[in-house]
This record gives sequence, structure tokens and C-alpha cells, in this order.
Amino acid sequence: MLIEQVREEYRRRFGEQPEVITRAPGRVNLIGEHTDYSGGFVFPIAIDRMTYVAAGRVSARSVVFSVDRGEGSPFDAATVEPGEMRKWTKYVAGVAWAMRQVGKSPGNLRAVVGTDIPLGGGLSSSAAIELAFAVAWNEMYDLGLQPEDMAPIGRACENQFVGANTGIMDQMASALGKAGQAMFIDTRDAIVRYAPVPDDLAVAILDTGVRHSHAGGEYGARRADVEGAEAKLGRSLRDSKLEDLDQTREPLTVSEYRRAHHVISENARSLAFAEALDAGDRVAMGRLMREAHRSMQMDFEASCPELDHMAAAAWQTAGVVGARVTGGGFGGACVALIQKDEVEAALLSILAQYRETSGKAGEAILTTASDGAQRVN
Ligand code: GLA
Repeated sequence: MLIEQVREEYRRRFGEQPEVITRAPGRVNLIGEHTDYSGGFVFPIAIDRMTYVAAGRVSARSVVFSVDRGEGSPFDAATVEPGEMRKWTKYVAGVAWAMRQVGKSPGNLRAVVGTDIPLGGGLSSSAAIELAFAVAWNEMYDLGLQPEDMAPIGRACENQFVGANTGIMDQMASALGKAGQAMFIDTRDAIVRYAPVPDDLAVAILDTGVRHSHAGGEYGARRADVEGAEAKLGRSLRDSKLEDLDQTREPLTVSEYRRAHHVISENARSLAFAEALDAGDRVAMGRLMREAHRSMQMDFEASCPELDHMAAAAWQTAGVVGARVTGGGFGGACVALIQKDEVEAALLSILAQYRETSGKAGEAILTTASDGAQRVN
């Protein structure tokens, strides 16, 4: 149990019990990819893979220890600035920095962090560490923040402190998840509509084993294309139609056109998927997930051969309602909705096909929709 592991490690390193233990989930996204930085729709689920933090207040500098990555560099929560930290401790120190930007005064802490979210696997391990620390600071220093305040703090950390120019989806999913529920989010207004995950469907994460980093160039390059298209359109992609792409005064570049085509069509698919889920229309759900994958592959060019092999394997497997790449792409995982009574055979078959076509060993993780970031002790 991770909760026991971080508690034990804290006691071993610091010689007393932690004051608080918090946890925050990763997420999968059913549909609505790369739409959240142009005010579009997303449909994530907070998963039962989590990051746990055992923490206590200290007056000296903050020290953090990761069960997986060892000792982080120390920092002062009251003064740390972007550019001062390296590696994974950015995701911790940046939360204190972001809290200061909204007028809060987080003091120093010592903490042990552990996670069972595969890192760089497209499951928002970064949002989970941000939110688990946000809750720890909020609880220990009585900062009075609500879950909906903590999502933008996580995002500010990621965008301005870590330097990954992402949207708000992952932090909202990690902060506001609900057991048993998927979350249809209108990212323009930060409005969440919860939609139950049907009882007879399993949510599977099909990990290709290929890793990515969004602080790297590709995510930023896609975002620049999206913003370039919006500048020429004179409005957000959320408020644009496919026809508009041919009617700009200054023509879009080929890559701006394709990225914008993905985003505009993805918003339409996300709305249609939400309706299909409500109506129990499994055929439409499957078709929309497949089209969404193809659009990520062909128009957004954020897939990779392994993700395409994994999705294709799922599409031709009995019991699979739908499957597609989930998260930022360029590696990571596919998400699949699978009939529960066929799920074991389906996963074996998908992984066997994946091994055959990609030459790699993938991994399947069954997950359930979980509650968002919270104090657990
Ligand atoms: C990453 C980002 C999100 C979102 C997805 C793509 O997970 O953190 O904000 O942009 O990629 O949908």
C-alpha cells in the first residue's frame, strides 16, 4: 500500500509521524484531445492510480524525498522562483510559487512522495504530484483553498514554473474527480458535468511503453500552430467552424490548417460522444473514439506507430466498445472502453496483437473512476 509506504518512509527519515497524508489521482481522457488550450471540450476520468504525499511543517527550507527518484533539491517556499529548481522538484516548488501568485503564503514542509502512476505515460503524473502537494500545503497552513482553486494553481506551476505550456484538463480532473463518474468539461468556463461510467463497461489503459515529455518541443509546437490559426481566424477554435478555415484573410499554413481541423472536429466529436454516452449508443461511441484517434494521428500528428498499433489491435477485438490515444500523445497510452464480461480475453488478445505488430511488450491496466485530490490522514 502506497499510503503505508510514504508514512513509513517519512517516519524513518524524519523520526516522527507525518502531520498529513494526501493523495491525488492521475487521469485518462475519453475524448477531447488538445482542445483545452483553446477553450474546448474534454472528457477525462480521474483514475485509481494516485500520487501520495506524507508531509509535515518545518521552519527551515523545504525538503522532499521521492520513493522512486530519491532526494530532491531543497527550496524555500516563501522565495523560490522559476528557473531555480531542476527535475521533478519543480513540480513541488512550483506549487508554492503559484500559491504565492494568488496571494497565499505557504510555509515550508518536509515530505515523502510516492506514486503508482506510470511517469510520462500520458496519465497526468505531473498534475497528480502538483495537486497532492497543493492539498498538503492547503491543509497544513490553512490556506482556505477549494478544489476548484487548486486546479489553476497546478496549471500555473506547470505552465510558468515547469515550463510545459499545457491546458487545464489534467489539473481539473485530478482536483475535481468523482468516484464512478467521467467529467465532461467545458474548459472555456471551467464547468464540469459529471456523467456516470456505465456499470457494464471497464476502463482500460493500454500502455505502449513509449515515453514522452511535454516540456519537450512537440507539445509546444502544436500549441503554437493552434495559436497561429486562432490569430489568423481572429477568434478561438472553440468558436470556429471547419468552413472558417478556408476564409481567413491571411491563409493558414499547412500545419496550422491541420491542427485547427483536428481541434474543431474534436470539439464536435466530444459533444457527440457525450450525447452517445447519455443515450447508451455504443456504436456511435466507438466510431467517435476511432475518428478521434485518426484525427490525432493524421491532422494533429501527435500519435506514434506504437499508439496506432495499440488502437488498431483494440478496434478489431471482441468486446471493445471504443479505443483511442489518450493524453498529449507522442507515446504513452490508449484508453479503451471494454464490455466487462469480455474484458480479460480482450486484453490478452490486444496485447498479443500489439506485441506482434509493434515488436514491443505493452501493458494493460484496468482502472476505475475515483475521487479527486484530498487529505486521507
Ligand atoms: C496534456 C496536457 C493537457 C492537454 C492534453 C492533450 O495532458 O497537460 O492540458 O492539453 O495534453 O489533450
